[in-house]
Order: sequence, then structure tokens, then C-alpha cells
Amino acid sequence: MAKRLFITKSMSKLMEESTDKGHGLKRTLTATNLTTLGIGAIIGAGIFVLTGQAAAQYAGPAIVLSFVISGIACAFAGLCYAEFASMIPIAGSAYTYSYATMGEFLAWIIGWDLILEYLFAASTVSVGWGGYMVSFLKDFGIYIPAYLSAAAGSIMVEIPNMGWKPITDNLLKELSSLNINVDTLPHVTALMNLPAMIIIAILTTLLVIGIRESANFNNLMVIIKVSVIVLFIAIGFAFIKSGNWHPFIPENTGEWGHFGWSGILRGAGVIFFAYIGFDAVSTAAQEAKNPQKHMPIGILGSLSISTVLYILVAIVLTGIVSYTKLDVADPVAVGVNAMGDGMFWLRPIIKIAAIAGLSSVILVMLMGQPRIFYSMSKDGLLPPVFSKVHKRFKTPYVSTIVTGFTAMIIAGVLPIGILGELVSIGTLLAFAIVCISIIILRRKRPELHRPFRTPLVPLIPILGALICFAQMASLPLDTWLRLIIWMALGLIIYFTYGIRKSKLNKELNENK
Ligand code: ALA
Repeated sequence: MAKRLFITKSMSKLMEESTDKGHGLKRTLTATNLTTLGIGAIIGAGIFVLTGQAAAQYAGPAIVLSFVISGIACAFAGLCYAEFASMIPIAGSAYTYSYATMGEFLAWIIGWDLILEYLFAASTVSVGWGGYMVSFLKDFGIYIPAYLSAAAGSIMVEIPNMGWKPITDNLLKELSSLNINVDTLPHVTALMNLPAMIIIAILTTLLVIGIRESANFNNLMVIIKVSVIVLFIAIGFAFIKSGNWHPFIPENTGEWGHFGWSGILRGAGVIFFAYIGFDAVSTAAQEAKNPQKHMPIGILGSLSISTVLYILVAIVLTGIVSYTKLDVADPVAVGVNAMGDGMFWLRPIIKIAAIAGLSSVILVMLMGQPRIFYSMSKDGLLPPVFSKVHKRFKTPYVSTIVTGFTAMIIAGVLPIGILGELVSIGTLLAFAIVCISIIILRRKRPELHRPFRTPLVPLIPILGALICFAQMASLPLDTWLRLIIWMALGLIIYFTYGIRKSKLNKELNENK
């Protein structure tokens, strides 16, 4: 039994699959496409929503340092991903890498875990997208009813001058500081988050139609969001008041994680979400023209560009407005307000950039997930229908539709807080396993051709894995429980289906 669970897929078999012309997916993506795909997946809710909250609640202007710390941790994991992606250019990403190194059982675990990253991230970000869209439409006099714009069952209240908001602990605190009694405000119970569901449906349709079409749409969204971010940074520098940076590291309040150095670390944990996505590039390996050379460029290029932009935005944002004012859902828009009436024209542009940015994140996440399902199904661990490729569109359309539909339901009914933390813990686990796998494969198969090599092995992978575990440890117990329940569900599926249908296991038995 143990032998069956830890059976690994041989490198020669993987190489055969990566060059197999019959896999049906089209090789159309260039190095630039892969880099924009990465930027598409990375820059989104993290910078447009979470930065302000992390600065206001945990780190103050030192959120800049939180971005540096989290960026270094992701760079370690990114280097490990780049080695694997150039060596094993197959669609399954971390799932495939662990199949080659740690065996089928752990590969299944990681594949199942990746659903938390990709599918759940698509849902999480679509909730953020819905928020920005509702507020953008409101500026043009179009009102989406409150009961159709939040997670099922959330209580929404209408606050004078602020509009409808879901009740959260932070909102209750804010209202009490304004001496507003929440019971006196009009309220409704939400039915579903319709805008979030609609964007997922639209992007799923695009993904079924074609990878090229999806990549083109992604390129356009990336151009919009990056140009507007650069514009914000360039204009913002002129409005910086250095007083806002003093004190740069606000004194700790006495509670761990609330300002001071512990606050910087906690801030790094929160904004880790902003970096998620560079690994999504590796799921498109089978659609890349020259994966050996271009995968590392796509992964590390997109991560570096996003890191630089994040650090600059954090410097400018905390320089133009006091961090204490940034605990809002649209911190960048608050930054623009602080520039004065003369800069009013920039406000709708920022909203458009956020909407474009979040759209591309959802798109790439919805693209990554079906490609992991595709690989798992090719290996027999999921039913064959998941690897069905559309005759005309050449896309894994069944798994794309299943992913889109599930993401839509989750986005429609679950609140963003629960979703975001699940995404972080799932991704951190995947990164840690990828880092450890690098060390294992270097020991087991030192002779393999590695077009890209992670520097300083084993130091970098060990540090990468340790930082990921430390960040996981800082997440709340509830999130751990949800992770354990999710994994238990995965085990049931593996032991009732995967283990019996695994192609590798079948071959092993036939060769006995
Ligand atoms: N990094 C992605 C975002 O911030 C998930 O939206």
C-alpha cells in the first residue's frame, strides 16, 4: 500500500507528455504573454483593497517594509517554481512537480490544495470586483440593489453619505465612533452577490472560446491597470507630505501585530495575498511556445515588476495621506482625494484601473484551475471528462465550465474575509511543498537537465519553506480548521476514486 501511495511519475514519462503533440492544447504563448499573464494574476485586490487596511491596522507607513518582506518570501518560492517550470513544462504546476518528486498521494494533496488557491481566489477577487463595480455604476446614477450585491445572508445597512455596506466588526466600531446607532439605519438581508457572479460567467465564457482570446483580453487589462498605477505613482510623488511618514514605524500598542515590528510582520502576512498569482504562469506551460526558456522569464519577470510597483504605491500612498485614514475598501481612491479638488478627474480612472485589474486576476485564476484539473484527469485521478479538449476552441472546456460554475456559486454566497484567508493558507502550503520538492529532486536526480537553476540550494528553498510555514502559523485557528476539513474531503475522494483509477497504479499492476 505504502508503495502505491508514494509511486512517482518518472521524468522520462513527464518529458514525453510535455512534448506530446496529441495533448490538444495550442502552443501560442510567448515570453511577453507569460509575463503579462503573471502580472494579470498578481496585481489586484491586494494593492487596490488590502494595502490601506494593512497600513491602517498593523504597520503604518512601514507597510512599505511589509511589502519588501513578503516580496522576498515570494521571490524564494518564485525561484523554485521557475526551476520546476523550466524543467517539467506540463500544465499541472505544483501538482505535477510533486508527482515527480514525492509521489502520487502527496501530488493529489497538493492538487486538491491548489483548488483553494485558484478557484477560491477567483471567487474572492470577484467579490472585490463587485464592490468596485457597484460604486463605479453609482457614480453614473445606476444603482444595484443592496440585496443583490453581497454574500447570501449578510445584513446590509444604509449609512448616510456612505451608501449600503455589509455589517462587519470594523463598521460597527466606526459607527459607534460617529455616534450612529446601527439599529436606527435601514437594513436588508442580502440574497446573493450578483455582480461577482456575472463577471465569473463572462470570463468563463471567454476562457472556453480560446486561450489566445483570453490572453489578448488579459493584455489589455494589464496595460490599463499598470498604466494607471504608474500614473498614480508619478503624480502622487508631487503630493507627498513627509510629515505623513513620521513616525515611519508607529509605536506598538502593546498588542502583538498592532504596529511596531510585529505589526510589520503581520502586515506582511496580510499583503501576501497581493503577491499570489505569479505561479499561475506555470499552469500554462503546455500552451507556451518555448516553456524551457520562457517560463522562468514569465514567473520571475511578473513577480519583479509587481514588487517594484507595490513598493512605490505604498511609498506614495502613505506619503500623501495619513495611514490612519486608509482603513477603507478603496484606499487608492482616498489617496487621490487627498491630492485635492484639482485631481478629481483621476478618481474614475482609478476605479476603472481597479475593475480592469481585478478582472484579469479572476481571468488568470479561472484559467489556471482547469489546467490543473486537466493534468489530474490525464493521470486518472479525476474522471476523464475533465481532460476533454474542445474540438474547435482547443480549450479544456468541461473543466473550465465546472470551475466557473463552482466559483460563481462560492462568490455568490460566501463573504470575502473567510475566502481570502483560505486562499492564503492554501497557497502558502503549495509554495512550501514546491520549495521542499526542489531539494528532494536535486538529491534524487542531480543529473537532470535544468534550463533554470534556483541559486543557493538548499538555503533558498529552506528559507522559502520556513517563511511560508511561519506565515501559515500566523493565520487564525478557524482558517486551519477549514483547511483540515477541505483536505479531509480530498482524502475521501482520493481513496474512493483516484487510487483505483490512477493510470500509474494500473501500469504498476500490469508490469507485476
Ligand atoms: N494577487 C491577487 C490579488 O491581489 C490575488 O488580487
